[in-house]
Amino acid sequence: MKLYVILFLYAPFTLTKQAAPRDSCVCELTNSEQEFPHAKLDTVEDNVSKCITNITPKKVLELESLLLGLERRLPQLQEDVSILERENDGELYGVLSLQVIENEMTDIMELIQKLNSTMLGHQHLTTRTTQQVEGLKAEMEELEKYDSTQVVKSQKANRILKRDLDECKNKNQLITQPTNHPHGQCSHGQFVNITGPRVSTAGEYPGSYKYGAWGRDPKPQAGKESWFWVVMMTSNNRHSNYVRLYSSLSSLIVGVSGPGNIMIHSSNPATNTIQGPNVVLYGEALYYNCYNQDAVCRFNLTTKTVTTLRLPEGTRFNSKGNFCHLEECYPFTDLDLATDETGIWVIYTTTKDFGNLVLSKVLEGQPPTLGHTWHTSLYKGGVTNTFMLCGVLYATRYVDKQIEEIFYSFDTATGVERFNIGVFINKMAPNIYALNYSPVDQTLYTYSDSMMISYKVLFG
Ligand SMILES: *[C@@H]1O[C@H](CO)[C@@H](O)[C@H](O)[C@H]1NC(C)=O
Ligand SMILES: *[C@@H]1O[C@H](CO)[C@@H](O)[C@H](O)[C@H]1NC(C)=O
Ligand SMILES: *[C@@H]1O[C@H](CO)[C@@H](O)[C@H](O)[C@H]1NC(C)=O
Ligand SMILES: *[C@@H]1O[C@H](CO)[C@@H](O)[C@H](O)[C@H]1NC(C)=O
Repeated sequence: MKLYVILFLYAPFTLTKQAAPRDSCVCELTNSEQEFPHAKLDTVEDNVSKCITNITPKKVLELESLLLGLERRLPQLQEDVSILERENDGELYGVLSLQVIENEMTDIMELIQKLNSTMLGHQHLTTRTTQQVEGLKAEMEELEKYDSTQVVKSQKANRILKRDLDECKNKNQLITQPTNHPHGQCSHGQFVNITGPRVSTAGEYPGSYKYGAWGRDPKPQAGKESWFWVVMMTSNNRHSNYVRLYSSLSSLIVGVSGPGNIMIHSSNPATNTIQGPNVVLYGEALYYNCYNQDAVCRFNLTTKTVTTLRLPEGTRFNSKGNFCHLEECYPFTDLDLATDETGIWVIYTTTKDFGNLVLSKVLEGQPPTLGHTWHTSLYKGGVTNTFMLCGVLYATRYVDKQIEEIFYSFDTATGVERFNIGVFINKMAPNIYALNYSPVDQTLYTYSDSMMISYKVLFG
């Protein structure tokens, strides 16, 4: 019986027992099958990884940025042409305006040519990749023929079965969901997923400042609805003393700041300047961790004055209560300011909470005050960032260089915590140093190793 089993398992081989001299017994193993072409599999693997590096979200974003650039340039050209028409008296002014328009036209032609070549490049890439993928598929089918014991084939069948089973389970969950308490219900529904990156740009100072934050004011002054702000840690990767404004997304991408910098103080750092990247702009005021204090600072952009708001006794500050992942902690991320549909929040930790996340509402007012506070059971050292959405706190963790996971939520309306959110962020750079939600355009804004990236939030 045993012998039968062994022979069955080694069917492709033939065993020959040879009569050998003395007591030793020698078995000769002959492989009747073709040898598996390992080298071929290696090249297929190489080609796959080449294929993957060729196609990145960056390629799509190149186009988007160029289009945004054009979008900004064309109205300007139109404006200049109408000025020329008004001034065309054949005199000096007309000649000057013509010169300006010629320069504009040259710039625009350059943009168009770049757009053209980028598009052509993408077309070629698409055709080439399609061919490559077809080639790879054929190669893999060829290699599968070596699977004479049908191991891979049954694994494949198992995978399909498992997927069907999961789908079945998920369907059941969907059916039972309405009996659960709604989690962070806003007028626009419940947070389900994100898409993107939508916009990704190196901005005006490519690669210069690793840490920073950017976004839009959810409660802007009239006429500044399309403005964007950027704060970069310009000193030691940890301090800043100004906020830089842009009158549109395209001007931020092409790096033309009309309104320029609004200074908090001429020195950096100084009392009440910015410490750490997780800042937000709300109602024409910047909220941030004050330099060397366990306090939130509010810088009024109109009056250029700062008011401070002390946080509770035992609040960790000066890089003692940071966001972290296994490889590193992000310096000076003790305080995370956030905005959502309901206003401004501050997320931090204290010694009394043993390093777990604490969340407080910040009430506008003169001076600003601390509203209700919630204590969570989530240890801040295992979290890379947080944001607020519809009164719900969400936390992220580092998965790998490409992926960050929104894994946790805390609903301030019910006190319910969840650890199974499972929404993934496709990153453009390994580390997200600032993450905030803007309720005006329902977008997540991240600042990641000097790149500014945004994601659209999907509601169900
Ligand atoms: C891998 O790619 C190279 C170059 O594109 C091609 O010549 C080769 O046939 C490919 N090999 C496999 C096994 O697909
Ligand atoms: C785009 O590029 C192609 C190939 O280089 C060229 O033939 C075509 O004229 C270009 N179109 C524009 C609008 O520049
Ligand atoms: C979120 O969207 C991504 C990409 O569109 C998709 O792969 C993923 O399954 C979605 N996740 C959830 C939780 O719906
Ligand atoms: C900023 O100062 C102006 C003028 O005093 C005031 O009207 C406005 O409410 C202040 N903004 C904030 C957010 O405190």
